[in-house]
Amino acid sequence: MDLSINKKYPSVDDLRERARKKIPKFAFEYLDGGCNEDVNLHKNTSDIRDVELLPYYLSKHTRSEMKTELFGHTYDAPFGIAPVGLQGLMWPNSPEILAKAAFEHNIPFILSTVTTTSIERASELTEGRAWFQLYHPTEDRLRDDIIQRADAAGCPVLVILCDVPTFGFRPRDIRNGLAMPPTMSVKNILQILGRPEWALKTLVHGQPNFATLKPYMPKGLDLKQLGKFMDQTFSGRLNEEKIKPIRDMWKGKLVLKGVANEADAEKAVRLGLDGIIVSNHGGRQLDAGESTIRPLVRIAKEYGDQIKVMMDSGIRSGPDIARTMASGAEFAFLGRSFMYGVAALGSQGGNHTISLLKTELQQVMEQICCENIKDFPDHLIKEI
Ligand SMILES: Cc1cc2nc3c(=O)[nH]c(=O)nc-3n(C[C@H](O)[C@H](O)[C@H](O)COP(=O)(O)O)c2cc1C
Repeated sequence: MDLSINKKYPSVDDLRERARKKIPKFAFEYLDGGCNEDVNLHKNTSDIRDVELLPYYLSKHTRSEMKTELFGHTYDAPFGIAPVGLQGLMWPNSPEILAKAAFEHNIPFILSTVTTTSIERASELTEGRAWFQLYHPTEDRLRDDIIQRADAAGCPVLVILCDVPTFGFRPRDIRNGLAMPPTMSVKNILQILGRPEWALKTLVHGQPNFATLKPYMPKGLDLKQLGKFMDQTFSGRLNEEKIKPIRDMWKGKLVLKGVANEADAEKAVRLGLDGIIVSNHGGRQLDAGESTIRPLVRIAKEYGDQIKVMMDSGIRSGPDIARTMASGAEFAFLGRSFMYGVAALGSQGGNHTISLLKTELQQVMEQICCENIKDFPDHLIKEI
């Protein structure tokens, strides 16, 4: 481990700035952007930061402990790596780098259906600990096959997604030709030439592909046909009828991601799900929506004793994780922060970002005299 990394990149913002300089603009903007005018993207982080915590300095305090039990496993920290699609576009091998780092730090890693390593490989790298996020296939046969593969790979938690009934409207990706179907313009090629390390590593590693979906894709698809294949293969809109058979089939823990209101949380409880991730996809789907910390507070109050309530979207630091726990979440996930880390630092990025967040969170806990993660709500001054 290069120790100068700690000095050069002591925050996720530093990693983000480094990532911007290391990868082509179209790849950085795909990672960094929200949707439409980016209102929801910025609201996520700024609303989390309105949450304030109370320190108790003169209390009896032994060392703070961030180990957290979730779904029968004790993780070393109360946060994990959210599913991100097309990770290999941002840095070659990034899902593998993150899966390994998550395993070494004993935190959860969620693999996206549409990322660039397979369920089987992620499972191998994490000794069967990786979770899997499923985009909803239109055909039952495909759905069943993917679920069986996740089961055979020993995946303990299946995450189904409800907040992508339609693709988000992302002007930057449209400008960059990254919408479906994607196009490779002269502008993009010039951007690649300006990032030689990324270009060389990508060349050596080979073009990123949808590793989990490869067995179902016709050979030799060109970019135009790929868009059509994805459109035909997946129907994003989830409903209770579609969740029921998955609940019957999947014997492991089942989590619904993308919950943004109490009504959907109530349905998740009724359908016998094990957990929900209150999420707005990092502000990439509904620009006019609420930040996630707001519905989190309401949902945790009403359903926190019936289902595991987790949250993602907008979290960028240890203090942000602390604010999220104080507002009622039992676990937090981060998407972009880890990808900034890998885009900035390559193979060291996963380890550095996780270590940084752990150090920051430990500092907050010691500072406010919070001994365990579940005690955070006792330190809440102002909820959002
Ligand atoms: C570039 C990018 C791609 C994403 N792809 C997926 C995906 O394939 N599946 C999924 O469930 N969520 C996906 N998400 C959403 C993340 O899982 C997560 O909800 C979000 O990143 C959390 O917000 P944060 O980035 O502010 O931490 C993606 C997010 C980003 C930034």
